[in-house]
Amino acid sequence: MSAFDTTIRLVYLAAATCFVLGLHLMNKPVTARRGNLLSAVGMAAGISAALAVLIRAQTVSVTAWIVLVSGAASGAGFGLLAARRVRMTAMPQLVSLFNAVGGGAAALVGVHDFLRSGSLAARESIPLAVDVLIGGITFTGSLIASGKLQGWIPGRPILVRGGRVVSLILGVAVIVTAVLVGGGLGGDGALAALGFGALAFGVVMVLPIGGADMPVVISLLNAFTGTAVAMAGFVIGNTVLITAGALVGASGAILTKLMADAMNRSIGAIILGGFGTGDTATPVVPGSAAGVRPLSADDAAIQLAYAAKVVVVPGYGLAAAQAQHELAELAELLESRGVEVSYAIHPVAGRMPGHMNVLLAEAGVPYGQLKEMDEINPEFGQVDVALVVGANDVTNPAARRPGTAISGMPILDVDKAKIVIVVKRSMGHGYAGIDNELYTNPKTGMYFADAKKALADMTAAVKVLVG
Ligand code: TAP
Repeated sequence: MSAFDTTIRLVYLAAATCFVLGLHLMNKPVTARRGNLLSAVGMAAGISAALAVLIRAQTVSVTAWIVLVSGAASGAGFGLLAARRVRMTAMPQLVSLFNAVGGGAAALVGVHDFLRSGSLAARESIPLAVDVLIGGITFTGSLIASGKLQGWIPGRPILVRGGRVVSLILGVAVIVTAVLVGGGLGGDGALAALGFGALAFGVVMVLPIGGADMPVVISLLNAFTGTAVAMAGFVIGNTVLITAGALVGASGAILTKLMADAMNRSIGAIILGGFGTGDTATPVVPGSAAGVRPLSADDAAIQLAYAAKVVVVPGYGLAAAQAQHELAELAELLESRGVEVSYAIHPVAGRMPGHMNVLLAEAGVPYGQLKEMDEINPEFGQVDVALVVGANDVTNPAARRPGTAISGMPILDVDKAKIVIVVKRSMGHGYAGIDNELYTNPKTGMYFADAKKALADMTAAVKVLVG
């Protein structure tokens, strides 16, 4: 092996090491940024090594270089712009777009290699079949998922008569075609049928799934992207693609399982569709429900300012209102009076994994104050005030009873606190679309307002109260 080949292999190994270490650092919010940076360095090293191989081989035409450079520049430009501009609440649809391009690109790598070599040895035709199958499904499935979350496609499950039968027939047809391609049979025609069949299956797979389950679907499609990329790596014999794809595939699969468990849903039930539709629940007029006790800013200020221990429970509404800075300001004011403040983080609060952590980090909330569900739940009995801001389903005691849409879902035991203050705009439902029994609990007071305004009003009221 030449010195050049050895160097390239070493760079690929270093890139793979960066991915593994980067992923490990992403385990904790405090090291996550470093992990992201390290993974990006690994990716830059991998791309540079691949380019060096192309330059040395001198087999790439000028036209191909123009295509390559302009494709890379426009892709990187779009990625940079999108990542900088995206609102935190729109992050799931951006991730879904990235999944789409990742899966689509992986499938194209396989197709290109097939067209270039005319036929593939059996060793490579199996990964090629899996690559095109999964990459094709991921491409269209992710575009539909992104469109649903962005509101371009209705978030409700889209079901047509006989649709399930069509999906089943299409599913069986693409698997049979994949077996043909994997067995090296059928040539160009079979590969084309597999590609178009997979693209069509991605559409019919995701359309019937409701918006509420979309983040789990996106995580699943992320695992698919990784698998397709790893298969593309096998087809063209590129170790860094295999490593990166395997890591994305495995971490995406683990995340999907964690999310499904935290929502008490099986992945199979999610794929077969039909839970929740997005934020479409009809809002009930504030205070109109029996047994609900509306609260004023002054009432809330008294309860908060004279508490010894306050636990904030953030949810999707905090993100929607972009009220994280107002929340941090209120918490700092309370802490300056000697109140102990911490934050209870439910694993599926918000609309994506880590949503609340990112939001609170943006407002400078120290990581040490964030407590995960298992850590905080035993403490709620000693909490003076639980301040629930835009969180609904993750606090609903109905989850403890059988027969509800969220039965069995682990919840934050907010109802065990001495006093509960809930900030939201109305009696409207959360994603699960059901009433929250916490709101009619005698110890709960409801502050009906947009979270940004509510928290600013409470801060002002505390300042007036304590002079
Ligand atoms: P939700 O149960 O969805 O409730 C959010 C609440 O925020 C709503 O009831 C809404 O009530 C309120 N709200 C909306 N905009 C607001 C604003 N501007 N100001 C104040 N309040 C506002 O949220 P959650 O408790 O965070 O639970 C998350 C849900 O999403 C769960 O059902 C979970 O299963 C699902 N989910 C999460 C994930 C991940 S990974 N996080 C993935 C898939 C699904 P009003 O309209 O009355 O204001």
